[in-house]
Amino acid sequence: MKNVAIIGSSGAIGNSISKILSRDVETVYNFSRSGVKEDTKKEKNIFIDIEKEESIIDSLKYIPEETKFDLIFVATGFLHNNDDIFPEKSIKDLSEEKLKKVFHINTIGPALIGKHFIPYLAKTNKSVFAFLSAKVGSISDNKIGGWYSYRSSKTALNQIIKNFSIEIKRSNQNAIFVGLQPGTVKSNLSKPFQKNVSSNNMFSPDYSAEKLLKVINNLSSDDSGKFLSWSGEEIQP
Ligand SMILES: NC(=O)c1ccc[n+]([C@@H]2O[C@H](COP(=O)([O-])OP(=O)(O)OC[C@H]3O[C@@H](n4cnc5c(N)ncnc54)[C@H](OP(=O)(O)O)[C@@H]3O)[C@@H](O)[C@H]2O)c1
Repeated sequence: MKNVAIIGSSGAIGNSISKILSRDVETVYNFSRSGVKEDTKKEKNIFIDIEKEESIIDSLKYIPEETKFDLIFVATGFLHNNDDIFPEKSIKDLSEEKLKKVFHINTIGPALIGKHFIPYLAKTNKSVFAFLSAKVGSISDNKIGGWYSYRSSKTALNQIIKNFSIEIKRSNQNAIFVGLQPGTVKSNLSKPFQKNVSSNNMFSPDYSAEKLLKVINNLSSDDSGKFLSWSGEEIQP
């Protein structure tokens, strides 16, 4: 891979993906809202707030003309904050404000990232547009309910990824769109729930990132539109 873009490079998984890729690829473009670092010869660091379409558009002004990405990896996401947003246990916990916030970051932001970044996907060789989703977004896998906004925001994200794959097949046959489930990974996002997970099932961000990059390397055009686990298995919608 020559050029890659990571959106959400300040996150646990995004940061690991960036670190691992920077060993081999020519230029890594890191996009993040917080912790924008100094550029190096290999790593370009660009501010982005995916809740603002203008910021998404602005961020692309820093990409040299003619640059095409072999991989665009969207690692942003939101489940809870330290303030008033926590996954709903029950219908009574639903609120317009919380639903809007979760959908804004998990669904609308990635959809607009797609809108503005798709023209930057390489066309002359295999290119991958990967989005971190979550297994709880699978409707057929939902056995215990709860987590209304997070689950449904990821379900909707998976539908958007599928739509991208259908529409872009016509203009870029080398582009592959996938949703990826990273496993349960140690991060701020998973912190409040880590005590419910056995240490065998709790991945480090580096481990998850290595597995996800392996899945990405093995993708073929038949996989476009799918939702895949860190192990490469397909997760049904
Ligand atoms: N960890 C898990 O167990 C797990 C399991 C299943 C799926 N996932 C998915 O994996 C993805 C990454 O999660 P993670 O565990 O790495 O979480 P994380 O460390 O909390 O990273 C989340 C990232 O999203 C960024 N972000 C949030 N809102 C943003 C905005 N408006 N503009 C730009 N960036 C924004 C955060 O940036 P700031 O630093 O600026 O806040 C942070 O870099 C998420 O989509 C999550 O749903 C994670």
